[in-house]
Amino acid sequence: MVAGDGGSTVKVLISGGAGYIGSTIASACSDAEIVPVILDSLVTGRREFTAGRAVYEGDISDGPLVDRLFAAHPDIDAVIHCAGLIVVPDSVADPIGYYRANVSKSLEFAAHLLRNGCRRLIFSSSAGIYKAREDLTVDEDSDIDPQSPYTRSKAISEAMFADIAAAESLHVLSLRYFNPIGADPKMRSGLQLRRPTHALGSMIRARDEGLPFVITGTDWPTRDGTGIRDYIHVWDLAAAHVAALTRFDSLPGPATAINLGTGNGTTVRELLGMFNRVSDRPVRAFEAGRRPGDTAGAYTRIDRAARLLAWKPQYDIVDGIRHSLQWAEMRDGLQSVNADGLPKQRAAGFGSELNVHSVGE
Ligand SMILES: NC(=O)c1ccc[n+]([C@@H]2O[C@H](COP(=O)([O-])OP(=O)(O)OC[C@H]3O[C@@H](n4cnc5c(N)ncnc54)[C@H](O)[C@@H]3O)[C@@H](O)[C@H]2O)c1
Repeated sequence: MVAGDGGSTVKVLISGGAGYIGSTIASACSDAEIVPVILDSLVTGRREFTAGRAVYEGDISDGPLVDRLFAAHPDIDAVIHCAGLIVVPDSVADPIGYYRANVSKSLEFAAHLLRNGCRRLIFSSSAGIYKAREDLTVDEDSDIDPQSPYTRSKAISEAMFADIAAAESLHVLSLRYFNPIGADPKMRSGLQLRRPTHALGSMIRARDEGLPFVITGTDWPTRDGTGIRDYIHVWDLAAAHVAALTRFDSLPGPATAINLGTGNGTTVRELLGMFNRVSDRPVRAFEAGRRPGDTAGAYTRIDRAARLLAWKPQYDIVDGIRHSLQWAEMRDGLQSVNADGLPKQRAAGFGSELNVHSVGE
């Protein structure tokens, strides 16, 4: 057991802890009295999201930096590896950049961690690695069939970590996230981006700009013809990491994978219906055809997460929409932004690996 054993303070290194999910995990850790130490290059992350925490600004592949970090924090009990690039179309345009960022650097990072005595690693993986069954459900035993360099980089990293875990005294838990939405309910962090490309982000943008929301594909084999996803509140994702830290040493090893979703599929049309019930300004839908590379989507069974982590989601989609809207109202006040209102690091495209047209992405 890493956390909750009543002993000394538990400390966890979070790579990518200035990003959307990593910063939420850091807040959930702090709330559970686990001390987070952040390693982030700020390539897409936000310095504001790390306020009050031990932060090392730099790259996961920077060995001397990782050595310095561990020298200052020799009591790190576990590492949560969230750092990476996440934009599917960017990965299609720049596969070398994506494999370098997500696979090569993760390999370097693993070597630096082992050199510094790390024995417990939690890896941010993606539901986008799966091939969905005909009923559009997946579980951890579903076929792995990534459809983009980004999702393939996740599947390769998982396999790479499992090989390393088989040879070294390292245990690795890959958490395969479905479709994160929402923000920290205490509004300490959320999506950095003003113009995210995933379905909920596009709805918020359509609302703000008074434009219709475009549904791409209405002839999928789902109950209403639109794509289906498993939207999981980012706080629930974060809570699952705390649960994983607490139970880490009782997990089957040396390598395990667990899906993190709600267990329920929601279609784009259903999401829009919920959005319009929560939003003060309803959004109209405009129906368009499928886009190349689109799939119907998928949702997960969550038995393994319940069994191994004693975790289940606490928030529903309406909470996720509400928190996303609340965050969107506050974000620009909390983040330093460029004159055009966009975060300084990048103009567009990050904040979610999701878009409306593939499994998880
Ligand atoms: N957001 C999603 O929809 C989603 C879904 C499934 C899995 N994931 C995975 O979750 C993790 C976090 O995603 P997110 O949504 O928070 O993205 P994000 O872009 O908000 O966060 C990624 C963080 O990693 C940092 N980073 C990137 N490369 C780095 C490097 N080489 N060294 C140090 N820091 C680096 C960035 O600055 C950023 O803070 C990623 O590994 C992603 O693949 C995300």
